[in-house]
Amino acid sequence: MSASDVAIATIKMEHRSLGTVLQTLRELLTSVAAGQAAADFGLLSAALYYMNDFPERCHHPKEEEYLFKCLRMRTAELDPVLERLQAEHARSAGVLGELNRKLVLYQAGAPDGLRHFQESVDNHAADMLAHFIVEDDVLRRANEVLTEPDWVHIAEAFAANDDPLFGSNHRTEFTHLYRRIMVLPPQKVRRRFTDH
Ligand SMILES: [Fe+2]
Ligand SMILES: [Fe+2]
Repeated sequence: MSASDVAIATIKMEHRSLGTVLQTLRELLTSVAAGQAAADFGLLSAALYYMNDFPERCHHPKEEEYLFKCLRMRTAELDPVLERLQAEHARSAGVLGELNRKLVLYQAGAPDGLRHFQESVDNHAADMLAHFIVEDDVLRRANEVLTEPDWVHIAEAFAANDDPLFGSNHRTEFTHLYRRIMVLPPQKVRRRFTDH
């Protein structure tokens, strides 16, 4: 595999990990709203914790520091889309903070707490899916404009896969979430986020 193949595959794998957790969260809330399951707040909190930890600590910074920076050096053509993506990265911590607040309200028994939390999760999932689709286009364009040394640089940065849920440095606080994802039917969880 070339360095570009490795880098692109790693970035797409990280998108799939994030998409899988978001879709799992949506499935859990759908079951609770339909009266088919009791809310497992430990699980819901772990999913939000992951959605905050992995993108903010690892995925977004690497995209900006390596992929976007290399692209800006090679072409100005992608500047508007890179600015859009970077603005979405900057907003995501605030969005996650709001989701956490709504989960607390739901757990505390606030009126319509489940509905408000579920709507916000659905909106965030739709935003993230749109973000990944734009990044897929950026990766296609990157394949045309970046050099082999650029890709080696990017692949090396992404090689240290710090995914605390699906990566080799799996963290114990996500064990319950990991097990829960593994027992869900794969087509139910992954379909929407892997077909784009
Ligand atoms: Fe991104
Ligand atoms: Fe991304």
